[in-house]
Amino acid sequence: MKALVLIGGLGTRLRPITYAVPKQLIPLAGKAMLYHVLDLLPRDVEEVVLATGHKAELVDRHVRAHPPGLPVTTVAEATPLGTGGGMRNAGGTMSEPFFLLNSDVIAAADLGALAEAHRRSRRLGTMALTEVDDTRPYGVAALGAGDRITAFVEKPPPELAPSHWINAGLAVWSRGVLDRIPPERPVSFEQAVVPGLLGEGVYGFRLSGFWDDAGTRERLLRSQRLLFEAGRGVAVGIPEGARGRGPVSAMEGVRAHDATFGPFVTLGVGVTVGAGAHVENSVVMDGAVIGRRCRLRGTIVGPSVEVEDGRELVDELLGAPPP
Ligand code: GDD
Ligand code: MG
Repeated sequence: MKALVLIGGLGTRLRPITYAVPKQLIPLAGKAMLYHVLDLLPRDVEEVVLATGHKAELVDRHVRAHPPGLPVTTVAEATPLGTGGGMRNAGGTMSEPFFLLNSDVIAAADLGALAEAHRRSRRLGTMALTEVDDTRPYGVAALGAGDRITAFVEKPPPELAPSHWINAGLAVWSRGVLDRIPPERPVSFEQAVVPGLLGEGVYGFRLSGFWDDAGTRERLLRSQRLLFEAGRGVAVGIPEGARGRGPVSAMEGVRAHDATFGPFVTLGVGVTVGAGAHVENSVVMDGAVIGRRCRLRGTIVGPSVEVEDGRELVDELLGAPPP
C-alpha cells in the first residue's frame, strides 16, 4: 500500500512559530512531529507521498537530511488547496486502497489492523475514530450497525455533535474517492466530500490507545507528554552539566551548563540555555538561545529565537514576527 500524508496547512493556531516552519517540523520528544506520524505506518508501505504546501522547501530539506526509513516523495501545491484539494493534487499515484494521514496527530494506533479491517469487507473508506470529551475542534461521526458511519459533521457546535467519536486523521480510502474531489480549487475533504461518500460504505475503526492533535500550543505540549510517557522519546537525557527531572530530549549540540530541566522538554539542535535558567513542559527549537536565569513553562520557542536574561515565559508561543 501507499500512503498520502497531508502536510500543507498554514498552522495558523501555532503562529508565530509557523511563520518560520511548518508545524510538522516542530520537534516533540526529540524528533519532528511528522516523524511520529510516519512511525505509525507499517514498514512495508511502498511509498509515502507528502502533500506539501506552506514552507514545502523546508519539509523537502528536512526529509533529505533525515530519511525516514520509508520511500518518501513530495508533491507541493502552489496555493493552499485544503485537505481535499491537496489529496486530489498529490494523490495521482496512490494504491488501491491507500492510507490517508494527517501529519499532526500523535497516537498509538495499529494502521496494519486498520487496513486489515478495511479489506475484510467491501468498503469505500475506513476512518480511525477516537473518543474525546470536547468534539469542537474535530470532525464527528455518528455510528450505526457494524460501526458504519451514518453521518459526519466537521467541527459542529457541541449541541449538534452526533457522538463523541471523532475523525482521528488516520484512514484507509479507496482510490475512487480522489475522483470525487473537484480539481484545482480549495476543497475541505472532511466538510465537502466525506458526507457525500457515506452512502457507499464508510466505516469507523475505534482506537483505544492515546491520541491527540498537536495543532495548538496546549495540545502540542500534551502530545509531547504522551510521547514521553509512551517511551517514544528520542535523545532522552539531561544535557551535560545540567540538572533536573526527565524526561528531556536534548538533540545534537545542546549547551546548558548549570541550567535545570524537566519534566517534558525538547531542546532542538544547537540550543543554548544559560546558567540558572529552568525549562519545563516546553519545546525550544533549533538554534534558540535562552538567557541566564530565564524560567520557561508551557512554552514553545521558535528556531533561532533569542530570549533575554531573566525572562519568565509561561504558556507562550515565542517566534519571529510575520515576514
Ligand atoms: N496539502 C495540504 N493543503 N494539506 C493541508 C491543507 C492544505 O491546504 N490544509 C491542511 N492540511 C493538512 C495539515 O497540515 C494537517 O496535517 C492536516 O491537513 C489536517 O489539517 P488541520 O488544519 O490540522 O485540521 P484540523 O486538525 O482542524 O482537523 C482535521 O483533523 C482532525 C483530527 O486531528 C480534520 O481532518 C478533522 O476531521 C479531524 O477530526
Ligand atoms: Mg490538526
